[in-house]
Amino acid sequence: MPFAIEINKLHKQYKGSWSPALDGLSLNVKENHVVGLLGPNGAGKTTCINILCGLVEPGEGQATIFGKDCVKDTLAIRRMTGVVPQQIALFYNLTAWENFYYTGRLYGLADKTIKEKGQNLLERLGLDKHADKRVGRYSGGMKRRANIIASLLHEPQLLILDEPTAGVDVQSRAMILNFLKEYHSKGNTILYTSHLMEEAEQICDEVVIIDEGKFVISGSPKELVANTADCKRLEDVFLHYTGHSVRD
Ligand SMILES: Nc1ncnc2c1ncn2[C@@H]1O[C@H](COP(=O)(O)OP(=O)(O)OP(=O)(O)O)[C@@H](O)[C@H]1O
Ligand SMILES: [Mg+2]
Repeated sequence: MPFAIEINKLHKQYKGSWSPALDGLSLNVKENHVVGLLGPNGAGKTTCINILCGLVEPGEGQATIFGKDCVKDTLAIRRMTGVVPQQIALFYNLTAWENFYYTGRLYGLADKTIKEKGQNLLERLGLDKHADKRVGRYSGGMKRRANIIASLLHEPQLLILDEPTAGVDVQSRAMILNFLKEYHSKGNTILYTSHLMEEAEQICDEVVIIDEGKFVISGSPKELVANTADCKRLEDVFLHYTGHSVRD
């Protein structure tokens, strides 16, 4: 099966930091898979995602998306990839529609296309009645759902989401997860991060555990549970490999 993402020995050390955020990280994401990038706080998940979408330059190593280099081919990658960042990337003083027109036009989409795609996604993610309200007035779950819509207007074949369900209620989470399953079933690839092991177990074909900027282990949640001694759930596997000490 071809890879949507190939990451080879990525190294990144931020200016002024004592230790690297990524320390030779290698991992692959198969096309048409849902892959969970898991790791404790500070493991390097967001840094990895930011390198993939060209926001952060790696010190060493290489990352490609559908064969395009994440440093050199950023325009091609932007067309193929939707990124939902960890922080809400919407203007709070604008309505959802105003935000979507802003983002859609940055991608070079015609207003007619933005309207069609936006309407469809608003209905699918339960925001159609709120699209003319300012995003600043939205609940946490609504902001997360609007954040996802903005990243999908250009119909990317790869969706990268950084903690898309952080801080949302059970209903919004269920809606987001069902939406991601549906998006995947249309032949698209998803890389996503979460601290919720049950959630990853539910939607991921494969999970990759990283810690301190390094690859730890990967596999299907079932396979990892079956192959790790005394583990009944993915959370046990996660703790087995990353330990119990909190990260400061
Ligand atoms: N802009 C930055 N400048 C300096 N250090 C940074 C910067 N961004 C991240 N770091 C450091 O790099 C390491 C990896 O951070 P990163 O945000 O990639 O981890 P993460 O796995 O996404 O964590 P979390 O689960 O908390 O979101 C951490 O030690 C963090 O403090
Ligand atoms: Mg992060």
